[in-house]
Amino acid sequence: MQYNKVTASQISQFVAIVGEPFIILDHESKALYSKDYTEDLFYEPEIVLKPRTAQEISAILAICNEHRIPLTPRGAGTGLSGGALPLYGGVVISMERFNQIIEIDERNFQVTVEPGVVNEALQQAVREKGLFYPPDPASKGSCFLGGNIAHASGGPRALKYGTTRDYVLNLEVVLPTGEIIWTGANTLKYSTGYNLTHLFIGSEGTLGIVTKMVLKLIPHPQHTLLLLAPFTSPEKACEAVNAIFLAGCNPSACEFIEPSGFELAASMLNIQFEIQPNIEAYLLIEVDGNDLELMMKECEAISEVLYAHQSGEVLFGQTADEKEYFWKLRRSIGEATKFNNTYKEEDTVVPRAELPKLYRGVKEIGNRFGFRTVCYGHAGDGNLHVNILRDQLTDEVWNNEIPKAIVAIFELCKSLKGTISGEHGIGLVQKPYMKVVMPEVQLQLMRNIKRAFDPHWVLNPGKIF
Ligand code: LAC
Ligand code: ZN
Repeated sequence: MQYNKVTASQISQFVAIVGEPFIILDHESKALYSKDYTEDLFYEPEIVLKPRTAQEISAILAICNEHRIPLTPRGAGTGLSGGALPLYGGVVISMERFNQIIEIDERNFQVTVEPGVVNEALQQAVREKGLFYPPDPASKGSCFLGGNIAHASGGPRALKYGTTRDYVLNLEVVLPTGEIIWTGANTLKYSTGYNLTHLFIGSEGTLGIVTKMVLKLIPHPQHTLLLLAPFTSPEKACEAVNAIFLAGCNPSACEFIEPSGFELAASMLNIQFEIQPNIEAYLLIEVDGNDLELMMKECEAISEVLYAHQSGEVLFGQTADEKEYFWKLRRSIGEATKFNNTYKEEDTVVPRAELPKLYRGVKEIGNRFGFRTVCYGHAGDGNLHVNILRDQLTDEVWNNEIPKAIVAIFELCKSLKGTISGEHGIGLVQKPYMKVVMPEVQLQLMRNIKRAFDPHWVLNPGKIF
């Protein structure tokens, strides 16, 4: 694709659309919009626009579409696959002014909200009404709901409650050609032709720009209990995960964490966390519900499984502060790894019972290629985040050998009937690996869908395929 640069006359048109205060042109202020949480990547846009309405976005897209200017939508920039990076320069549209919770419909258990609302802000607003919006990415304190939709984001509680995908009922979207549509209906069921809502979820801003969303809510569980189980054998920890479910338990989260993950997080947060000698893995398990007695029984059943898998003494998070302490440590691991070391983050996912094979395979590949990893993640979903650390690796190894190791990891995922991303998306960094898990015919179908929505390929080009 050949793209054009933004001209002075187009800049004047953009000023007329969004207003002078909502345009960024200078290099320094643009820096914030040139990176996200992905590795150390930096792509500078020619201009950043901060529209406030779907109509403004429609007018901007019409110009970009006519003049073949690439346009990249951006949420809070917490993505881990480079989805918000303007690979070809052009325009970045920041969704930060779409920050209103429009209506909480308590009668229908729904909320209408704009995409620039922070995930946790929505969770808190609906919580005050006894309602629950479960999707909880680790970056929930800063990520935008629009980004969650773009990547079909998950988080620890996806285990019991599903990912963002399971909570989106209807989306208002500006298409690349400028039309504004609602993709579905505000209903719990939808059997009315192709499901465009689900096509947009996980489309990483390549098919349209979401400007409003209707999300499903459920009653908020009254209590949570938290267990932390230490293991000397990480493989036993991985095996325990599936056994918990085979024992009939249904925890709301089941996270696997290598001690180095906790150590990095504790050091970044400047808080204490003591790793007992010989401990090589932890499981952090949450049970939620309304009946404390039943929940206690479930924790006992889980503990039995843990001990049967050689867990050390299982710790109970007693107070709200204690529970928040463990969750804070857990949520900070990704950021803490980035803070400490250059790294590549892989979002491997396999059927849950295959987790031990995935973990063992990742470590073997690491030994073969000579790199260290910090592994952690949503074990109950078979979703293991594999952070490959740069340490002292040379440019040659980092740039040429590590991609081969990543192919080996992804081939392993495929052989276990898994895939290369569970919740972080493909964006820019996983694009070269799509062919590991997908034949050309499937990629071509995706390209055809893209072309049907975006004939001139102006919206977030260079992502996914
Ligand atoms: C997490 C992010 C990286 O689970 O997905 O911490
Ligand atoms: Zn995660």
